[in-house]
Amino acid sequence: MHKKSLVFLFVSLLEILPHASAQSLKDTPYVPSEDNLQARKKFQDDKFGIFIHWGIYSMVGHGEWYMNNQNIQRDEYAKLAQGFFPSKFDAAAWVSAIKASGAKYITITSRHHDGFSMFGTKQSPYNIVDGTPFGRDIIGELAEECRKQGITLNLYYSHLDWYRDDFPVGGTGRNLGRPTDRQNWNSYYTFMNNQLTELLTNYGPIGAIWFDGIWDKRGFDWQLEEQYELIHSLQPSCLVGNNHHVTPYRGEDFQMFERDLPGENTAGYSAGQDISILPLETCQTMNGSWGYNIEDRNYKSAKTLIQLLVRAAGKNANLLLNIGPQPNGELPQMALRRLEEIGNWMDAYGETIHGTRGGDVAPHSWGVSTRKGNRLFIHILEYEDSRLFLPMEAKVLKATKFIDGTPVQFSQDKEGVTLKLPEIPKGIDYIVELSLK
Ligand code: GLC
Repeated sequence: MHKKSLVFLFVSLLEILPHASAQSLKDTPYVPSEDNLQARKKFQDDKFGIFIHWGIYSMVGHGEWYMNNQNIQRDEYAKLAQGFFPSKFDAAAWVSAIKASGAKYITITSRHHDGFSMFGTKQSPYNIVDGTPFGRDIIGELAEECRKQGITLNLYYSHLDWYRDDFPVGGTGRNLGRPTDRQNWNSYYTFMNNQLTELLTNYGPIGAIWFDGIWDKRGFDWQLEEQYELIHSLQPSCLVGNNHHVTPYRGEDFQMFERDLPGENTAGYSAGQDISILPLETCQTMNGSWGYNIEDRNYKSAKTLIQLLVRAAGKNANLLLNIGPQPNGELPQMALRRLEEIGNWMDAYGETIHGTRGGDVAPHSWGVSTRKGNRLFIHILEYEDSRLFLPMEAKVLKATKFIDGTPVQFSQDKEGVTLKLPEIPKGIDYIVELSLK
């Protein structure tokens, strides 16, 4: 071959190669580690978690969006930190109350959109340890207590920031008195990755990182994949989820739905997402607010909350139920009462929820089914007849009322099973257990 053509070939190869390798990297599917797959299974078995939105915004008592919604100037808002002293905070009390409800994990805001870190970080003095008279690392205290009591700790982390100069401002946080000439994505991205490294290094095993906020700037390259890789390299079993309201991206380990069950879109956040094959989670508020709202007494009834948990399980999803702790560090009385009511129900019926997957009978308006091995649980939530037809194929050997083992008559043909209940179903959830062949 002519020397010139050889050089040409070499140069052309050089030009093609980077593209070729970038292309193949992009096409390589994300392969979760064995630990990660185990963690996903555990996450699905857990079925029920408590979400905690807590930050200096709790002092104002109007939810976590107050700063943005009222255009509170950033430097003025930041003064809240200097008065933050949640004198009644007791990690043990929180974790015990939450654990008694039957919840298996806690997901807490380590840093929300207001940019204030609720943990000791070297990346910014704007944090609970260095920036408040309280000076305690509540994430550290919770991590230790969760480990003691055997429940998983997950961390919410906002991609969006209303405080920092270097955050490239998107659709929100535009009138908070920040300089506009210091935005610097590389600096902000490094800050986040350093914080995530701290969170995944200083507090023992973390169950999941729960991201939120990229909906603020659609189409922007948030460099998620590298960030997800960082998380998985620090803790392979740590699940990554992102509340971006669209079908999951590469590198994510579970899919979340805000204020709706998978497949529903009453709240308007889920129009852009299909249900993926990943573990699913729905988050919902106990009243109407995430962060503490001093006016919001509109708590959902225990019945509504339990039925939501059951319907989520029937759709093969977890429920992440939110509480906004008070500025004094305590969980609101009403929230504690709901935890207790749910706990009482879970003591009796938790077996039909924990460790189950969505069952053979698809969700209906009357209720749902959950399944564990050969046990199929029929959860009858709203139904006013004693005959119930269940479209299903698996052969049923036996039917009983779950609570006391009373036999339930049934017949089966090709189309499915017809239950002849001994009464009209009543209560929060009338459960019939079917033993399958
Ligand atoms: C929304 C809100 C946020 C809240 C989250 C919980 O994304 O911006 O305040 O933390 O929903 O799902």
